Amino acid sequence: MNWLSRFEKEFLRKPGEHLLEVGITGSGKTQGLYWICDGIVNVGKEAVVWFDIGKGNEITVLSRFRSLKIFYPYECKVEVRGVDDVKYHPFDLVDEIWLELDPSRINVVSIEPFIDDPEVYSRIVGTIFKRLVRLSHAGEIYTPLTVFLDEFHNVAPGKGQGMTDNHYRIGAYVQKNVERLRSLKVRIVASTHGITKIRKGVRTSFNWLMIRRISDKLGQEITRLDRYLDIFQTLANDEAIIVYPTKTYSDKIKLPFYAIPEGARVDYIGLVGEEEDREELKLSHMVKH
Ligand SMILES: Nc1ncnc2c1ncn2[C@@H]1O[C@H](COP(=O)(O)OP(=O)(O)O)[C@@H](O)[C@H]1O
Ligand SMILES: [Mg+2]
Repeated sequence: MNWLSRFEKEFLRKPGEHLLEVGITGSGKTQGLYWICDGIVNVGKEAVVWFDIGKGNEITVLSRFRSLKIFYPYECKVEVRGVDDVKYHPFDLVDEIWLELDPSRINVVSIEPFIDDPEVYSRIVGTIFKRLVRLSHAGEIYTPLTVFLDEFHNVAPGKGQGMTDNHYRIGAYVQKNVERLRSLKVRIVASTHGITKIRKGVRTSFNWLMIRRISDKLGQEITRLDRYLDIFQTLANDEAIIVYPTKTYSDKIKLPFYAIPEGARVDYIGLVGEEEDREELKLSHMVKH
């Protein structure tokens, strides 16, 4: 069977199948996530949520697949220009992300651009993840659902990679619940630049791997087969290898490039907690505390 038709049948058309994409920075990971998003949107009625990491207008590419609905903290603002039919949902409670998602759109969650502290951001994503598990278990959200998380090591850090104890607790929670999500037809499609940067019990529950160009050491974490190591290290930016749940490796697969639509741009305005931070800068505040 052809690699791509097998991928379509056993992954794209099968809700609940998790996938992890691994590759060094600049190897095409974000582009790979677009390709998967394109595929999922094309074959079925799955809802899509994409966590925005605020890198140079990247979310505007998603408007090629479906119109956007953008969730952001109510005290801040996202402004997309040069893209038609964008809906905005400023939220207060994180539950709104799951309860108000629109299956006919790509639901973009923009929080990271408004949080300076990566530890705080991880904690927020951890809470959002917990609510996803709770609400989908209670049957309150639209399924099937795919959640895209670029740079996933920030959410479930491996040994020695976490920033605080709490950070590891979030990882333990993710580990305990990824399998449950699968059965609820909710899947995670994530990327990382280091497979061991992700908690062991979490990375092993990703049935599917997509390999992009990786370094020597990273390669050995995935395979001990020299012939694959050579191939992994020399993959071009538009090439990937898919590892199927059966541990079969595909041939090199050529991926398309998805450009930012002409003239499209995103502005992120404000920071969460900015007002409080400003208070703390006042001398009167410093005198009292
Ligand atoms: N399918 C592709 N075809 C052509 N060029 C690509 C393709 N995928 C990625 N690239 C090139 O590689 C660069 C890095 O891709 P990107 O997805 O941003 O990498 P990463 O997310 O791993 O840092 C892109 O800006 C583009 O120039
Ligand atoms: Mg990227």
